[in-house]
Amino acid sequence: MPRFWVHTFGCQMNVHDSERMESVLQSQGFVAAESVEAADLVVFNTCSVRERAEQKLRSEVGKLKPLKRERPELVICVAGCVAQQEGERLLQQIPHVDLVVGPDNIPELPGLVLDQMAGSPPVARATFDVAAPRFLAVAPAPGQAPASAYVTTMKGCDERCSFCVVPYTRGPERYRPHEEIVGEIAALVAAGTREVVLLGQTVDSFRDPGLPPPESDDPDESQFPHLLRAIAARVPALARLRYTSPHPRHATASLARAHAELDVLARHVHMPVQSGSDRVLRRMIRRYTRAEYIERVRRLQAARAGLTLSTDIIVGFPGETRAEADETLSLVREVGFVSLFGFKYSPRPHTPALKLADDVPEEEKSERLARLFEVGEEMTRAHLAPLVGTRQTVLLEGASKGGDGPGGGVSHQGRTERNEIVHVELPRGVAGAGAIVTVEVTAAFRHSLAGVIDPVSLSGLPRRPAAAPRRSLPVVGSEGP
Ligand code: SAH
Ligand code: F3S
Repeated sequence: MPRFWVHTFGCQMNVHDSERMESVLQSQGFVAAESVEAADLVVFNTCSVRERAEQKLRSEVGKLKPLKRERPELVICVAGCVAQQEGERLLQQIPHVDLVVGPDNIPELPGLVLDQMAGSPPVARATFDVAAPRFLAVAPAPGQAPASAYVTTMKGCDERCSFCVVPYTRGPERYRPHEEIVGEIAALVAAGTREVVLLGQTVDSFRDPGLPPPESDDPDESQFPHLLRAIAARVPALARLRYTSPHPRHATASLARAHAELDVLARHVHMPVQSGSDRVLRRMIRRYTRAEYIERVRRLQAARAGLTLSTDIIVGFPGETRAEADETLSLVREVGFVSLFGFKYSPRPHTPALKLADDVPEEEKSERLARLFEVGEEMTRAHLAPLVGTRQTVLLEGASKGGDGPGGGVSHQGRTERNEIVHVELPRGVAGAGAIVTVEVTAAFRHSLAGVIDPVSLSGLPRRPAAAPRRSLPVVGSEGP
């Protein structure tokens, strides 16, 4: 049986795509290898959203050159966004790569690998499935469903923000029929999943002719709130529902109504803002102003008391002045984001912003990013500190890396409904993953909390082998606080 090793770079979509690759490979008789050295197939699932991620991929693939020289039968595959962006060129640029497979070509992966193993010449397959979009579901093995699972609802992006390569690497928007989404969620929940995270580049632009029409004729209105309602109604056993990432443009009044109506929706939304300056937002082609963003956030918060927000921000966009960077800092404070991801602008191929000079010096970008992180951390601290002494409902996701807790038990990681990470310790032999427990928060750290599980919750936990943790694959290259 051929053995595979998947190396993941980048965002949640890639983490989820890697799960789907594992799943299609396993369905064709491949098995997971214990190490890169023991693998017959190595897949690099790549990210090209910033230049650094792309460079990292090239250096990681480079490291496999000696192994390939030693074992020429080893199949090396580059998948994901760099594969889509570069296509055939990658085969010339990195001669020890055998296969290039775009995000929409995952279903073909096992066949292409077997062809390579039978001696076919190197091949690149990177075509969008625009005419007949395919959405692969990951089928959980019985008892192996993760506590929290990603479910794809759409792929691609039609926004074309001027800095972003995603519309070119992931193609135009295509939506998965809601019946298929509800079906996958029902199957996951039946297998033990408690929380689902809906995934899409602009997850709130969802459309499906099978759902009732949008609630108003506002052109930004979508059928996403109907999708949320359909999931809540048809999978009542689902404990928590999240989605990422919404585009502020589609965060309309009907989405706020869904938050007011549906208890299953988590009280936390990650909504990328990118900048707090109207001039920069316009040049980024974000299609909203600072005031509109704030209004949308306030509407969501008014719909659901205590709802928290996190965001993505780019510093050093072409032409961004110091004063405009300060406007972003003031927006972070004004909105009260509880956490944020910050990035230095990085020019990407095909994007409209290439026409603007990348004129903010690297040093200045670093300084703006450092100031942003300083404010971000201040906001996170101010949010987490008052939670000490409170009782929170926590979904346990699985044992933490390292495993052993200071009290002789096993360290576990979980999340509150508002996405705060909580570390707890469980006695040995008690299964935690997938359980929803009450935790008394005892400490706040920079980005997480620690707590003690309430004795009543603890006594209700089963003694059985733990469910699989969410991320079983190695993930590298993510950036954040
Ligand atoms: N819609 C996507 C966003 C994809 S990119 C989602 O669902 O998350 C993730 C983040 O990377 C963006 O929000 C943006 O902050 C950052 N980013 C994208 N292109 C970038 C670039 N050229 N330079 C720096 N940061 C970038
Ligand atoms: Fe990128 Fe903007 Fe779409 S950030 S993924 S083009 S919404």
